[in-house]
Amino acid sequence: MPSGWAVRYDRVDAGRRSVAEAGETDLSAVTHQISAALAAFVDDRVQSAVARSFPVDVPLALGEFLNAGGKRLRPLLRVLGWRAAGGTGPMTSAIRFGAALEMFHVFCLIHDDVMDDPDTRRGRPTVHRALAKRHRNGRTAQAAERVGVSAAILAGDLALVWSDELLNASEAQLEPEVRTRVLRLVGLMRTEVLFGQYMDLEATGRPSADADRAPAIVRYKTATYTCERPLQIGAALAGAFLDRLSAFALPLGEAFQLRDDLLGVFGQQAETGKSVLDDLREGKHTLLIALALNAADPHQERLIRGLYGNPRLDERAAGTLREVLRATGADRAVEDVISSRHAQSLAALDAMPLDADVRAELAEQAAWRSG
Ligand code: IPE
Ligand code: IPE
Ligand code: MG
Ligand code: MG
Repeated sequence: MPSGWAVRYDRVDAGRRSVAEAGETDLSAVTHQISAALAAFVDDRVQSAVARSFPVDVPLALGEFLNAGGKRLRPLLRVLGWRAAGGTGPMTSAIRFGAALEMFHVFCLIHDDVMDDPDTRRGRPTVHRALAKRHRNGRTAQAAERVGVSAAILAGDLALVWSDELLNASEAQLEPEVRTRVLRLVGLMRTEVLFGQYMDLEATGRPSADADRAPAIVRYKTATYTCERPLQIGAALAGAFLDRLSAFALPLGEAFQLRDDLLGVFGQQAETGKSVLDDLREGKHTLLIALALNAADPHQERLIRGLYGNPRLDERAAGTLREVLRATGADRAVEDVISSRHAQSLAALDAMPLDADVRAELAEQAAWRSG
């Protein structure tokens, strides 16, 4: 195994134990157990690859990224959807299924970073940057970047394939009817995010004052795969289809991405793990920019159009752009939309017949980034 590149495997054995013991229904343990299950899975696959003398840079880069953090939100919502639908008992299969969802999310993130080209994610170099650095020896910087991007595409593909393997292992024991329902939801989740990502790409670099377009993009690139489908998959695994969960999940997912957009421009890198210049340099069509262009006077519009989407925007110009965005009131307008989506989620929650604990836990998830 290449030295200096190893995933923190010391946690794997502890992980194996806690997955085996995942009988209790403690939600706070889910994050740890998902991480442990993922580390154990990657470790097994890396050992098999080593045994066959395959180069393991790509799986190790994927393992390192999985180990680098992440809130494990989708697995948590899968557990909460299961509980909302009356699911009880050991969480072992929830952990395995949650690991499949997290692996799918990681596939989305790695390929998203190939498309958007940021330097950092989860407070560390993005996978394509890390792999480029690894292949720097004997190459020009440009050639190494290209290898990094190509290898990261493979790392993302590997995450998608492994997500499928984790899923197959989890759904093997399901009743045929439940299995059909769950696989349909998984299929929708996978397809929707790809269309959402394409909608995002199509709009990037051409921001406009069209404030209806951004929510449609956000719904498919984020809200369904992050909130709606994980909750529905959890409910389906408990043998129910709670379509009312969508009324809670979609506004929550939208608020989640709108908060991410605000943090991407006005936040702190130490808090988000992502650069606060990248979104401005990319020229993404977000609700923030649409509302800013709507409210801008001609001078402000010229400034926004001159700076937003400039790939070489420096910190000083970014400061000017942030000031103009604030002066249009667009940041406060997005905050208002977040608050209204949050209120919609809570109202939907109130309308559902739920166990008090589950209701409180769902409300807590809703408050976390949208409140
Ligand atoms: C990031 O998702 C991508 C979006 C959909 C906004 P998360 O904010 O859940 O990312 P991690 O998993 O915690 O890194
Ligand atoms: C988004 O991650 C990933 C997906 C929605 C699949 P980011 O946090 O980079 O958000 P974008 O790229 O700005 O949508
Ligand atoms: Mg993107
Ligand atoms: Mg991105």
